[in-house]
Amino acid sequence: MKQGEKVLFGIFGAFFVTAIIGYAVLEYVRMNSDKPMFEVKTRYEFTEEGYRGSQIFRESGCTACHRAMRNGTNMGLSLDGLGSKRTYEYIYSFLKKPEETYGAVTIDHGMKPKEAAYVPEMDDMDLKAVAAFLFGLKAERGAASSPFPPEGKSQFIDNMLKAVAPEGWKDKYQDIRESEGMER
Ligand code: HEC
Repeated sequence: MKQGEKVLFGIFGAFFVTAIIGYAVLEYVRMNSDKPMFEVKTRYEFTEEGYRGSQIFRESGCTACHRAMRNGTNMGLSLDGLGSKRTYEYIYSFLKKPEETYGAVTIDHGMKPKEAAYVPEMDDMDLKAVAAFLFGLKAERGAASSPFPPEGKSQFIDNMLKAVAPEGWKDKYQDIRESEGMER
């Protein structure tokens, strides 16, 4: 081997070995830690109707564009935590009349030829069950899908506010960290 080749292979080899060691250490820490590395902050509350709705959700093509409870695609809109953000009435009304409920032009839900135009035409009892399912998808405060930040003081949020929020923002906007959150 030429000198240059040796250096090149050496560098590549070092990367490779570092990656393997890094992976092994990560797995070791993950398996021996009693705290989960990524806390799950979404949960579901099922009623019988909601459970039926979850089956309809899977069988009606919703998962082609949505994700809920580890089912569906990563490319579309995740509906986990929806029940902490929207009311049951909103969800049902959105499924029946997407654009009126949304208050804006939608991409896929709405009139033909939009791809989810079939949704309002589904059986009404089925839509109610789907709405019950989606309303049962809850998010704790602080979850990515929750409209509320985590409880208690967060140095990170304080720092971000200092860095990006304009002076006197509190006079204009409500600080939702001081609100009770939304238990629905
Ligand atoms: C072709 C893709 C597609 C399919 C199929 C689809 N959706 Fe959607 N869905 C979207 C998109 C995109 C949005 C965002 C609103 C919009 O622009 O249409 C959305 C929004 C929603 C919302 C509103 C969320 C919110 O916070 O306002 C609900 C609820 C919903 N979909 C439920 C369903 C259900 C239930 C089905 C199956 C019966 C379904 N969707 C099928 C693409 C799709």
